[in-house]
Amino acid sequence: MTLPQLTMQSVPQGIQTAADYRLLAQQQLSAEVWRYLENGAARGLTLRANTQAFDNSTLMARPLVNVKGGHTRVQLLGQQFEHPLILAPLAYQRLFHVDGEQASAIAANAQSGQMVVSSLASQSLEQIIEAAGQPLWFQLYWQGDRARTLHLARRALSAGYSAVMFTIDAPVKQAVMSLPDGISAVNLESALPLPGLLSLQSMVFDGWMTQAPDWDDLAWLRDQLDVPLLVKGIMHPDDAVRVVAIGCDGVVVSNHGGRVLDGVPASLHVLPDIVQQVAGKAIVLFDSGIRSGSDAFKAMAAGADAVMIGRPYVWGLSVCGALGVAHVLRLMRDELEMTMALSGIAELADLKARLHI
Ligand SMILES: Cc1cc2nc3c(=O)[nH]c(=O)nc-3n(C[C@H](O)[C@H](O)[C@H](O)COP(=O)(O)O)c2cc1C
Repeated sequence: MTLPQLTMQSVPQGIQTAADYRLLAQQQLSAEVWRYLENGAARGLTLRANTQAFDNSTLMARPLVNVKGGHTRVQLLGQQFEHPLILAPLAYQRLFHVDGEQASAIAANAQSGQMVVSSLASQSLEQIIEAAGQPLWFQLYWQGDRARTLHLARRALSAGYSAVMFTIDAPVKQAVMSLPDGISAVNLESALPLPGLLSLQSMVFDGWMTQAPDWDDLAWLRDQLDVPLLVKGIMHPDDAVRVVAIGCDGVVVSNHGGRVLDGVPASLHVLPDIVQQVAGKAIVLFDSGIRSGSDAFKAMAAGADAVMIGRPYVWGLSVCGALGVAHVLRLMRDELEMTMALSGIAELADLKARLHI
């Protein structure tokens, strides 16, 4: 096995929160890459709503509870993790650091957590899992048709990925910044040609959406895969119910960090209704807007089984590679532990039982 040669960097002095990494990352990255990372779709309404929802939701201090021996361990899809902070799938990580996805995967493992690797990874799926030294989860984008989609999923599974997270909220490829030479979605075949756009009534309905998946495709995909299948990008309780009825193992309540349909609510606001519909039948993961361990606590208090972190770990990655990602995870876990302790919660299972925000 050839482990990657990681860039040797140290953690900058004085960092206390993920937000400190944000300031440094902005100095580190070009303006274009920074915008690609940080921006939301259109007017950024949903992007702002995501973080405001956390800022506006309150905690409750519960002193004098004996929380000795408390912990942040969670059990997900038959695996145990030391904390519920999963690294969300983020595309093209070599834009942010030369060590790319491998650095994030190493950090996830070093912190005894999990990472979901994007279909749009900038390093090979095999290299990333080898660096991680543990089975990771694979984020699947629809590849225009069934055969190509299955081919990609099967490649990930034979490389050792142990679960598939199918992202359904961005069926049409988003306009991405022009990628620098040497950075690309190395695991994908070239895109299927679209129908001749000029001759179409609508570029959306008769062009792009002809290559988007529908409910039948999801049911088909479920039948094809014999590993856990999670569906990312659920915002409506009825959709969550349907995903579970199809036999999927979990939903990810997410609005893609405000990057797709601008104007949808903060994902924190839709979480409780979704939990109410599917809790006990499927796992519920959550992302969009988490910036601290206390935000993670709030999402779990609203019923999530675990949360995914998006931009904040890439701030760490940008500043000092694997060490930065690991540090962001550790800082957020420390904040989560402190929030639990001060809220009188020794275990995340107790928090779920209380659902008290
Ligand atoms: C730069 C960037 C690239 C992303 N790429 C993907 C992707 O390839 N696949 C995917 O399912 N989600 C992708 N997402 C969405 C994240 O997985 C996650 O839903 C989002 O970042 C969570 O919001 P947060 O950044 O506020 O934590 C991306 C997000 C960002 C910021």
